[in-house]
Amino acid sequence: MSFTVAIDGPAAAGKGTISKAVAAHFGFAHLDTGLLYRAVGARVRDGAEPIAAAKALRAEDLEAGDLRTQAVADQASRVAVIPEVRAALVDFQRSFARRAGGAVLDGRDIGTVICPEAEAKLFVTASAECRAERRHRELTERGEIQSYDDVLAAVRDRDQRDRDRATAPLLPASDAVQLDTSDLSIDEAVARAIEIVARRRGPE
Ligand code: CDP
Repeated sequence: MSFTVAIDGPAAAGKGTISKAVAAHFGFAHLDTGLLYRAVGARVRDGAEPIAAAKALRAEDLEAGDLRTQAVADQASRVAVIPEVRAALVDFQRSFARRAGGAVLDGRDIGTVICPEAEAKLFVTASAECRAERRHRELTERGEIQSYDDVLAAVRDRDQRDRDRATAPLLPASDAVQLDTSDLSIDEAVARAIEIVARRRGPE
């Protein structure tokens, strides 16, 4: 039986950590849909044309090593405004969402466009400062040296581009449960998310 959990929200709000933990808890598969846009963005940085790159994307491309950099994130949000790029990635996401055994997808438009019928929907947020601080820490740990102010500016730019685009803008589904993680530890945020999904799932 399929059961889809849609987790959307702005950059570095904690979607990735929460999604992985929710998937592990319920034994569901997890797809970080941001990686699809990052993989297309990385191809475009190497000179490819965005729509052709999106159409040619293969599952193996999501394993490429350098998809987590700030430059690739920035390029991802630029290709993500192109409707044909988004359209080319829909089928892969929908079939992942409906696989037997349950699935968690995190992104920007999962609860609104990709899986409006998802059984559980969360919209994870946190203040821009808080998100920039987390992303700054992550990038530093991976050896990408950038000032906090630059990371904050990049996060704000990307949020704006994601919210203002005409196709599938970042916005909570009307039936999504909002989870603000600004003042929560990782464990607290994960526990709340599991509680929300468990409520939607009902008794085993
Ligand atoms: O990890 P972070 O939240 O910073 O970003 P991400 O989820 O990897 O997404 C990178 C970019 O891809 C976003 O800024 C969006 O522009 C785009 N994206 C999207 O448009 N739709 C999705 N479902 C997922 C990502």
